[in-house]
Amino acid sequence: MDFFRDKIGKMSEFQQNFRKDVISGLNKDPKSLPSKYFYDDEGSKIFREIMDMPEYYLPKAEFEIIQNHAEDIAQKMPCRHLDLVELGAGDGRKMVRFIQTLSLRISNLNYFPLDISEKALALNEQLIRNQAPSVKTKGFAGDYFETYSQFKARPYPKLVVFAGSNIGNFRKDESIRFLEFIKGGLREVDFFILGVDLKKNPKQIIQAYDDPQGITKRFNLNLLSRINTELDADFNLDAFDHYATYHPLTGACDSFLVSLENQSVKVGEEIFSLRKDEVIQTEISQKFDTVHLNELSREAGLRIDTMYVDPNHYFSWVLFKV
Ligand code: TRP
Repeated sequence: MDFFRDKIGKMSEFQQNFRKDVISGLNKDPKSLPSKYFYDDEGSKIFREIMDMPEYYLPKAEFEIIQNHAEDIAQKMPCRHLDLVELGAGDGRKMVRFIQTLSLRISNLNYFPLDISEKALALNEQLIRNQAPSVKTKGFAGDYFETYSQFKARPYPKLVVFAGSNIGNFRKDESIRFLEFIKGGLREVDFFILGVDLKKNPKQIIQAYDDPQGITKRFNLNLLSRINTELDADFNLDAFDHYATYHPLTGACDSFLVSLENQSVKVGEEIFSLRKDEVIQTEISQKFDTVHLNELSREAGLRIDTMYVDPNHYFSWVLFKV
């Protein structure tokens, strides 16, 4: 525990927010936990295992879109100057191929990855310097709600990217607010690419979120072990199961932890009781169709220019203009 506290024994600001979010989520009815806390070192490691699972089609489909359509996208961009701004960029492995393709046509390409993790941004920078040496890159660590706004003042046209269907992890009202926020930073010359996972065979979706080897279960349960170590809690991981559901009409794919017994759990000074079979929602992974995307873009004041899809129609990169 001491490791996470500073010298005067106080919790860091991050830890305080983490604690506040966990306690407020567990006080809700139904209970929930915010998914942004999945990605500690262990969680990030398990998530890489998820990305490598045959059932988790998302990264493969998105990569096929990049392979097949990066050239068409590059053709639409200005060829002298472009700022590429990526929100939630991570270590850059997903985007490097796209960046290489853009750099073949654009003489001055600047890549600005935005991410919460300094560590991921350091890897990102190294990768781009090695794999796309003509591209200038500078990462911005922190909350992208704070770092994104500074790009509006730059004189160059830009392409903003939010990939990986991360938009699916927002509630509907949050996703509209997020798109409005993106739009607020765009001028008429700018572009925005949004990665979205599409509705498809419900069995295929459910397998991606509930794999037979139990990797996703480990990922979901790791959130509880993180709370145990960082917030002085005593969740018994054996008393919880993983459950995922997908609704083919609404496109809602939700992940839960299920309490297997009546139990009480301590988080710091607070005590919470859980009934047998009570659920804690841990993730929303919304799946989209064109009707839904048209509605979102209309509400956010964006215009769909092109929808790029992989050969299986699993995933899409939606190219927007204001
Ligand atoms: N946010 C990712 C997604 O929605 C991560 C994820 C994959 C996930 N499987 C999960 C989150 C299971 C919680 C539970 O695809």
